[in-house]
Amino acid sequence: MSTRKVVVIPGDGIGTEITEAAQVVLDKVAKKAGLKLEFSLAYAGGAAIDRNGVPLPEETLSLVKNCDAVLLGAVGGPKWDSVSPDIRPEKAILGLRKALGLYANLRPIRVSEILTDYSPLKSEIVAGADILIVRELTGGIYFGEKCESETADGVEQAWDKELYSVPEISRIVRMACEAAAKRKGRVTSVDKANVLASSRLWRRVAEGTVKNYAGIELNHMYVDNCAMQLVLAPKKFDVIVTSNLFGDILSDEAAVIAGSIGMIPSASIGDGPGLYEPIHGSAPDIAGQGLANPIGTILSTAMLLRYSLNELVAADKIEQAVDKVLAKGYRTQDLYKAGLTKVSTEEMGRLVAEHI
Ligand code: IPM
Ligand code: MN
Repeated sequence: MSTRKVVVIPGDGIGTEITEAAQVVLDKVAKKAGLKLEFSLAYAGGAAIDRNGVPLPEETLSLVKNCDAVLLGAVGGPKWDSVSPDIRPEKAILGLRKALGLYANLRPIRVSEILTDYSPLKSEIVAGADILIVRELTGGIYFGEKCESETADGVEQAWDKELYSVPEISRIVRMACEAAAKRKGRVTSVDKANVLASSRLWRRVAEGTVKNYAGIELNHMYVDNCAMQLVLAPKKFDVIVTSNLFGDILSDEAAVIAGSIGMIPSASIGDGPGLYEPIHGSAPDIAGQGLANPIGTILSTAMLLRYSLNELVAADKIEQAVDKVLAKGYRTQDLYKAGLTKVSTEEMGRLVAEHI
């Protein structure tokens, strides 16, 4: 069997400890499945600003362009808050997404029975909710033309442009339809078509694209209403497809409904190697203390196996192992309650590996 190359980018803050824990799990599952993985380490974000003066060095770019998949921790932190906007740590993530053509970001929000109690919502509202957010990732206002500062009629102003083309919209809607076909077959397209021209095009293209998928049911929802429906009736959703900015906001909201942002993985995919990362940030306040929850990153390795390496059984094994460890009462400090067993980041990684 050929060797598959995985580039690990720990990033900043808790990035190092969570990717280390996840690698222990990935190693174990690879051994069991007879899969040969070759890991290489790369720098991005604040760590790269400190080493190379830029958030996304050329050597990192060339490594990721020549691998099968990328595992990323998190980037950013107050240390780099005052650097100039064009070398902010976040630029590394945006640069990686653009360089690898990662136009689709999949964020599955599953409310496991074990964690229902952690949701800020009542159990009867959230129990059983299972949503897949499909966020457009290389277009829209994130990548549109922008102006940091200009003067018009003697007043300073700044602006960002939201632009979507028909191919950008149709490919992300196709991705959502294909995902929905393996789920409950329902796609909710989220926009602000009552105000924005780009949203009216989005709605029109979504309509036309879904017509090619027999059995997929499409409904449209304004983003403000969607934010409200997510807390009122999260169980009504199956797949949500939306723009880069709306997807960013709605996925944080949905994650916290599921009990903890520390548990949610993500896959960013396109035509080349995929990038896998938890959806939380670098949490510099708890970095290096073994307090971080590595499960979002561990579950991201399951997505890596599924989407980039086509190792479906190995992916399922990781998800099952996480469920078993949680069912036995092991928790990192963020989810710890009296009567359960508190473990460190590293111990959580080892426990999940042991349950594979
Ligand atoms: C995310 C993050 C990023 C985004 C930041 C770090 C640029 O919030 O992946 O959701 O806004 O896309
Ligand atoms: Mn975000």
